Order: sequence, then structure tokens, then C-alpha cells
Amino acid sequence: MEHLLDIKNLSVEFALRTGNLCAVRDVSLSLDSGERLGLVGESGAGKSVLGFSIINLISKPGFISGGEVIFKGDDISKYSYEKMRRIRGNRISMIFQDPMMTLNPVLTVGTQMKETLKAHMKISDKEATEICIDKLKKVYIPSPEKRLEQYPHEFSGGMRQRIVVAISLLTNPNLIIADEPTTALDVTIQAEIMDLLLELCETENMGLILITHDLAVVSEVTQRIAVLYAGRVVEIGPTETIIANPQHPYTQGLIKALPECAPGTRLNQIPGMMPSLKDMPDGCPFSPRCEFKSPRCESEIPPLRETISGGFVACFEREVKRG
Ligand SMILES: Nc1ncnc2c1ncn2[C@@H]1O[C@H](COP(=O)(O)OP(=O)(O)O)[C@@H](O)[C@H]1O
Ligand SMILES: [Mg+2]
Repeated sequence: MEHLLDIKNLSVEFALRTGNLCAVRDVSLSLDSGERLGLVGESGAGKSVLGFSIINLISKPGFISGGEVIFKGDDISKYSYEKMRRIRGNRISMIFQDPMMTLNPVLTVGTQMKETLKAHMKISDKEATEICIDKLKKVYIPSPEKRLEQYPHEFSGGMRQRIVVAISLLTNPNLIIADEPTTALDVTIQAEIMDLLLELCETENMGLILITHDLAVVSEVTQRIAVLYAGRVVEIGPTETIIANPQHPYTQGLIKALPECAPGTRLNQIPGMMPSLKDMPDGCPFSPRCEFKSPRCESEIPPLRETISGGFVACFEREVKRG
């Protein structure tokens, strides 16, 4: 079966005065229709750059330096700006940490929702209003007719993020990329927004790529997890398998010492630092911090290989399935 999204050997670089910096390296992953994938990894791992590169929103000095992003059978990484604009905010929506990245403070919610709709389809004002009200109901905003007349500042943080979710639903997308969508909100509101996203993905059969620091959120919302380290996927597999039995020493470090997955549980901090992307070690990027490393790890980059527990891991020191 064809996947909804197939990222193949994607690399993203930033052309800096001091030389090129590779923020995403040779990443391959796929997502089926309606599937929910979590992207985790510490700050600077390349999660946001990967998210943006899927919708071809990397701006200078960044550029996609290799690979493909196949969405519904087409390589959208090679699309023109115009063609991509029609995909973005239409078939693929993005939700950011700060709702004000999406919302225009000087327009009413109704005006901007209707503008979004009209940019993508030919409809009357009345039809547009009806769709907007319908979407606001889907995100459980009370008195939607009245709310359409209001400006973003008249909403609370949680309500604003609900509006953003409603906007992302306007064009019935197949895929939502959510980059730490609840980090700026308090814990109870975070849980409400995540429940809402989960419900919508299920009822609307939308795929979700969820970038998050919150382990409770990934385990609740996603079916698979990809762990990013220094721009590479170092482990990927079913969420339960990875949480219960992480294979990569880096994933083990992130997940260990967590008493339970209470809401707001953040990934563990691991001693040491991620190597500078400008100055990557030979071999495994995690080797300088790894307590299990062997000499081979310092000279060769481990490829992703299938583990006996059902995921894939990029580590020479793990037992893998023999093929
Ligand atoms: N605009 C930029 N210019 C130069 N380098 C960048 C830029 N954006 C991101 N990077 C590089 O890419 C790395 C990954 O960034 P990012 O994807 O934002 O990390 P995160 O996993 O925290 O979302 C950063 O550590 C930085 O080195
Ligand atoms: Mg980020």
C-alpha cells in the first residue's frame, strides 16, 4: 500500500559563512493515512527543521540538500512555491507552539478563517461562515457565532490554540504537523488540547506528526515514535515498544528514571551535550556520550536496523534481527 507520506533520505543544510551545517541528515520515515507519529529528541536535534522541510518551508540560508518528500505519490520537495502553497494549509496543515504564529492580531477570527477558506475554494461568504462555525464546534468553542466576531486577544491561550486547530481543519487536511503545540500552555489545558487533537485525528482520519518534549503526550497520542539525535533518526518503532523497551542508549537515557508518565513528564536529561552540527564526530554521533560504545562506534556510522523487539535502531551494540 502507498503511504500517505514517504520521506526518503532527506537532508537539510544551512549555508553559513563558516561552512554548511547539516541539521537533518539522511532521514527516512513514512506515515500512513490516519497514523500518528511522535518526533522526540532534545533541543537542537532537528525536529522543527524536519517538520518545516516536509512542507518545504525551510527559508534561506537553509535548503533541502538531498532526498525526497513523497506525499500522496508526488515528490512535493521539488514543487514550485505556488504549487506548494496549495498543498500547505490545504492537504497539510501546521500547528506551531505559539498560536500567534498563525493568528493575525488585527483581524477577527471570522475574517481570517474565511480568508483562509476563500484562498482554497470558491465559496460564498455565507457558506464560508457555516464552515467556520462547524469547525469551531469541532474544537468545542462555545458560542461560535459570537466568537467569529472577536479578535485573537479576546481569547485565552488555550482557546487561541483551539482556534488554530480549527483553522488547520478548514480545508480537511490529510496530515497535520504539530510542533510542540501545547508547550506554552498550562498542564491541564495542554491535556485538553492534546485530547482534542487525538479525537480529531481519529474522527477525520488525519495523519499527525507530533513534535513534543512530553513523554506522557507521545505515549497517549502517538502510535509510533521516531527519536532524533543530531539530525538523524536513531530509533523508530511502535510507541509502546519504545517506551517499555527502548533500544538505543540515547532513547534509554531519555526515557529512564521516569517514575511514571504523568502529564507534563518531560524527557530525561542526559549528561553531556549533543555534538555541534558543525563538528560532528566520525562514527556514531552519540558515541561521545555513550557508555556502551565500542571502537567501531567511533569510526563507523551505524545504520538503522530492525530489532528483535519490532522497531529499528541505529546502534552497533544492540541485538538486531538477522536477515
Ligand atoms: N535559521 C537557521 N540558521 C542556521 N541554523 C539553523 C537555523 N534553524 C535551525 N538551525 C540549526 O538546526 C538545528 C536544529 O534546529 P531545530 O530543528 O529547531 O531543533 P529542535 O529539535 O529543537 O526543534 C539547530 O541546532 C541549529 O544548529
Ligand atoms: Mg523545535
